[in-house]
Amino acid sequence: MDFSANKNIFIMDHPLIKHKISMIRDENTGTNEFRKLVEEIAMLMGYEALRDLPLEDVEVKTPIETCMTPMIAGKKLAIVPILRAGLGMVGGITALAPTAKIGHIGMYRDPESHQPQEYYCKLPSPIEQRTIVVVDPMLATGGSAVDAISQIKHHGGKHIKFMCIIAAPEGLKKLSETHPDIQIYVGNLDRCLNENAYICPGLGDAGDRIFGTK
Ligand code: PRP
Ligand code: URA
Repeated sequence: MDFSANKNIFIMDHPLIKHKISMIRDENTGTNEFRKLVEEIAMLMGYEALRDLPLEDVEVKTPIETCMTPMIAGKKLAIVPILRAGLGMVGGITALAPTAKIGHIGMYRDPESHQPQEYYCKLPSPIEQRTIVVVDPMLATGGSAVDAISQIKHHGGKHIKFMCIIAAPEGLKKLSETHPDIQIYVGNLDRCLNENAYICPGLGDAGDRIFGTK
C-alpha cells in the first residue's frame, strides 16, 4: 500500500528515530532500555508532530532591550495515551510540552477476536479547543486507535493527531479512512500483520515489553 499521496500521513525518516526503532525491535532489549527508548522516540516524533502549534508574540526583556518574541500560544495541548502501552510515550512528549494536560483511554484487544474493548476513558475538560495527541506505540489492525479517536470525538475533541511508533499497512489504511480529518505520525511502516494480528517484523507485545509482563 502506498500512502505517499495522503497529506495527513507523516512517516518518519529521521535516522535517530530509525536507529532507536531498530533497537526496540531487538528481542534482547530489556525492559529498562526498552522504556527509555520508547520515551526518546516519542520525544523525537513529538518534535515533528508539534511543528504546527500556534505561536503568539510576547514581550520579553533581554539584557539588551525589550522585544516581541514568539511563544506557544496558551496551554492548549492534551496528550491521550491508549492504555497500557501508550503510557510509555507520555514522558517523551511532556518533556517538550510540560504544561500539556493528560487524558487516558483504556483499551485491550480481545485475544480471540482482536476487537478492541474499552474499559476506561477520562479526558481533560473542556476538550474542544485543545490540540489532542493520541499516543500508542502500535497500530496493528487499527481497531484500538479508531475506537479511541471516535470516543474522543464523541467527547467533543476536534483537533486530533495520532502518533505511533510502528504501524501495519492494514491499520494505517483503516485509521486514515475512518478518520480522514486527523494527522497520523508513524515511526515506521512495517510489512504486514500475521495470523494473530501481530505486526511483522514489529517488536512483539509493546505493553508487555514496556511493563515487563507476559
Ligand atoms: C496493543 C497496542 C494497541 C493495540 C494495537 O495494546 O498497544 O493499543 O494493541 O492493536 P490494534 O491496532 O489491532 O487494535 P493491547 O491490546 O495489547 O493492550 P495493552 O497495551 O494493555 O497491552
Ligand atoms: N499490539 C502489540 O503490542 N503488538 C503488535 O504487534 C500488535 C498489537
